[in-house]
Amino acid sequence: MTSRVSQTAEQTCPTDSSGLADSGRIIQLTDLHLTGTKTRRAWGTDVWPNFERALELVRQLEPFDALVLSGDLANTGRLRAYEFLREALEPWIDRVHVVPGNHDNRRKLRRVFRDLCVDGAGTVNFVANVAGHRLIGLDSKRWFRVHGMVGKRQLAWLRRTLESSALPALLFWHHPPRPVGTWWLDRDVLRDAHELEALLRSHPVRGVFFGHVHQVWSGTFAEACAYGSPSTAYQFRPGSMRPGAVAVRDTALRVIDIADDTLTTRIVTPSTSE
Ligand SMILES: [Fe+2]
Ligand SMILES: [Fe+2]
Repeated sequence: MTSRVSQTAEQTCPTDSSGLADSGRIIQLTDLHLTGTKTRRAWGTDVWPNFERALELVRQLEPFDALVLSGDLANTGRLRAYEFLREALEPWIDRVHVVPGNHDNRRKLRRVFRDLCVDGAGTVNFVANVAGHRLIGLDSKRWFRVHGMVGKRQLAWLRRTLESSALPALLFWHHPPRPVGTWWLDRDVLRDAHELEALLRSHPVRGVFFGHVHQVWSGTFAEACAYGSPSTAYQFRPGSMRPGAVAVRDTALRVIDIADDTLTTRIVTPSTSE
């Protein structure tokens, strides 16, 4: 059996920024929920085999310019999970960018990925210029909380970071900035989304990409296109009244393509062919 790439319909994000001649590809992996023992499952799911399937898709999507991991990298924040993850990402490590999610242990994540991280405000952030855009990763984790928050110090860091470049920004973080229509996940929306939105409105932001919701979502935030992305491990049932209801235990990732002044994005999943 061989695997082939299947994909959802492309979405194009309209833009008023013209004259961008750069092109490039960004891949977002989110909510890996990796365990410290590769045979151990999480949420009743074989998270490591599913992650390996995601990496097979990543290989098929070469060439790309950045591989962004947007939180819940480890299911219970085990150091071994981060060490195994680093080993698996080694072929692309110079293109890898990470931010934590609510399941992560910030200290252990930073210990393993220190060389890839920027310190925003005691937080784990990243900044990279890719395809004529400024990629910025925010840390929305709050200790001992499931919901997200950026915080005043990180907002100040973000303001300085946005003001230091004229490039349009693509932002990545873990938590949803607004409700996605699933009540038990909507409790986890960024508590300071209004402050973040007010800041982003005064800067050229072209796209916002988040995780946590384990499902596909699209809308707007701060007048930019905003996208929720599915997990590499398992997908929650959109709109379900039952907390934690899983729809699919299979892998998925998001691809963002920039070409000729246009940003398009789509979800890629493996499917099996004879
Ligand atoms: Fe998650
Ligand atoms: Fe999460």
